[in-house]
Formats: sequence, C-alpha cells, structure tokens
Amino acid sequence: MAIREIVLLGDPVLREPTREVEAFDDELKALVDDLFATMVSAEGAGLAAPQVGVSRRVCVVDVRHVDGDHARVALVNPKVTEASDDREREPEGCLSIPGVTEVVDRPAQVVVEGWTPDGEPIRVEAEGLFARALQHEIDHLDGVLFVDHLTALKRRLLLKRYRKLREKEA
Ligand code: NI
Repeated sequence: MAIREIVLLGDPVLREPTREVEAFDDELKALVDDLFATMVSAEGAGLAAPQVGVSRRVCVVDVRHVDGDHARVALVNPKVTEASDDREREPEGCLSIPGVTEVVDRPAQVVVEGWTPDGEPIRVEAEGLFARALQHEIDHLDGVLFVDHLTALKRRLLLKRYRKLREKEA
C-alpha cells in the first residue's frame, strides 16, 4: 500500500474520460488500496483514479463519519443509474483543487451500480453526503470537476481565489 501523489487542476489527466476496467487483478486491488491510503492521508471524503494520474474507471468514498458504516466503498466501472428530482445545495471541495470550496447543487439521492474490486456486482443507494461524494467521484471518471457545476461567474471567482492561494504557497 502506498500513498500516491495527488495531481492538481491543470493536469490534463483530470479532464480525460477514463477507460473501463476489464481485469479484476492484483494491479486493480493495489490501485484501490492506494486510493484509500492516499485519501486518508489527505483527509478527503473520496478519491478517483485520475486524481493519482491513473485514467481508469475506479474510485473510493469514505464518509462513515457522517453517514454510518455502510458509507465506505470502492467502486469499479460505476454509473449513477437513478437520481432524485429532489436536489440539495451544499459546499463541496476537491483534493485536486485544494483550499477552495463552493456550494454545488446536486440530486439529493442517487443509486449507483458498478463492481467491487473483487468483480462482484454492487448497487449502492445513497443520500446526504454519501450521495454527494459518490456523484463527485463519478464525475471525476468522466473528466468533470465540481467547478463545472457552478455558474460561469462563481467558477471564475473560485478559480481566481484558487490561483491566489497557489501563488501564496509557491
Ligand atoms: Ni474531487
């Protein structure tokens, strides 16, 4: 198990649609272990493979601190198969855009279907933060970032805040 480097906004891998996983092999299991380790080390609620530079359809989420023991999951080739009309607006951030958050409007409940790293089918019903984190991570697998859900004005302001923050740290 290794902590991998998290790539930041501007790296093209974050914008590429990922390739589906075809082999449920040791390499996949190692990737999942590393995603969990890297997420925990960065104190995140989820992490997607492109964020460690791997353009594969794999992500992990862990929001047990809010939504209970079921809310830790590794998903391979996941898809949102149902989304509620009911929506929620809550602040969101991303380990690849560190230091800034903004309110994002998303369906309040979703059903996600995919595979476990062992190759078993899995269906997850989620609401609250769990639903939000799943949608955020699955977006990553399609090259979509949370800033894409903002209005043009809000996105511009957020990216300006982010650039200022990066300049200060440089
Ligand atoms: Ni993210």
